[in-house]
Amino acid sequence: MRRGSVLSLVAIGIVAGAIATAVAVFLPWLPTPASREAGRIDFVIWFVIGIAIFVFALVTAVLLYSIVRFRAAPDDESDGPPVHGHTKLEIIWTIIPTVLVTAIGIVSAVVLAQNDAQGSNVLHVNVTAQQFAWSFSYPDSGDLTSATLRLPKDRSVLLTLHTKDVIHSFWVPEFGQKQDTVPGLTTTIHITPDRLGTFPVICTELCGLGHALMRSTAIVMEPAAFDKWLASQTKATSSSNPATAGQAAFTNNGCAACHTLTAAGATGKAGPDLDKLAQEAQQAGQPLEAFVKQSIVDPSAYVAPGYPDHVMPATFGSALTPQQLDALVSYLVSSSKKG
Ligand code: CUA
Repeated sequence: MRRGSVLSLVAIGIVAGAIATAVAVFLPWLPTPASREAGRIDFVIWFVIGIAIFVFALVTAVLLYSIVRFRAAPDDESDGPPVHGHTKLEIIWTIIPTVLVTAIGIVSAVVLAQNDAQGSNVLHVNVTAQQFAWSFSYPDSGDLTSATLRLPKDRSVLLTLHTKDVIHSFWVPEFGQKQDTVPGLTTTIHITPDRLGTFPVICTELCGLGHALMRSTAIVMEPAAFDKWLASQTKATSSSNPATAGQAAFTNNGCAACHTLTAAGATGKAGPDLDKLAQEAQQAGQPLEAFVKQSIVDPSAYVAPGYPDHVMPATFGSALTPQQLDALVSYLVSSSKKG
């Protein structure tokens, strides 16, 4: 091979590789990791992207060089010379991909094993998915339930996932890990948050009309702040003061994601405005308190004009204890009277 050909091949390869590298590096493809597992997953991604850029540069160089160097003259209608196998070339193009794919397999296996390895002092959280809401409970803290997933930083967390109806999928992009919830099965996912912040919890399995609304929030806190939150929530949920218990039920069950309620600072727009409950009850022709209770327990019984049916979960009747339900009803009734 002439020295000039080698130089052209290398030059084309460098340009193609540089363009592919710029696309990979300068476009924000990935969120900034917020867990050790996501950091490792990102390492695998960049390892594979590096290999892909190398192969892309090699193939592009040979392809462009051949197109220009060996092109036929416009009036040349003849066949090219017959080509038979080239053993050396075939061995090379078998060995290189074998080595690369094996390397990717080994790196992935190591990262999978590391990501599943739980640290000491594991925090257990039960995740319940239903059309169309997430709820999180802390079995080590008297099954305290929350609509947002609060986690302490730098502690191994094992999420155990259940679904009350269809298949959903739990995903926090910044945590990297993703796991389906499957009817009749218990699935788990291990996360070690390592960055403070608020991140979206997203359902990534088409699960019905409200799929796009099936979102929550994961909040990574300092361990001391997390412990304080656990203690204050345990107190509020079991509070004998109905206003405190009612507001806790409203917050913990994710009502604010879809509803507006000035008293709770909620500004959701997907469902009816709860500041206007009195007018709604009047339209439905029911006494306010009975109307509020029915709307929580059996949301299809009366659907506010302009809102689709079956978006509000029909499971709150069984998810809430009778005390929580009563506290929530009286909290909503008194808040809407003030509004
Ligand atoms: Cu649940 Cu999509």
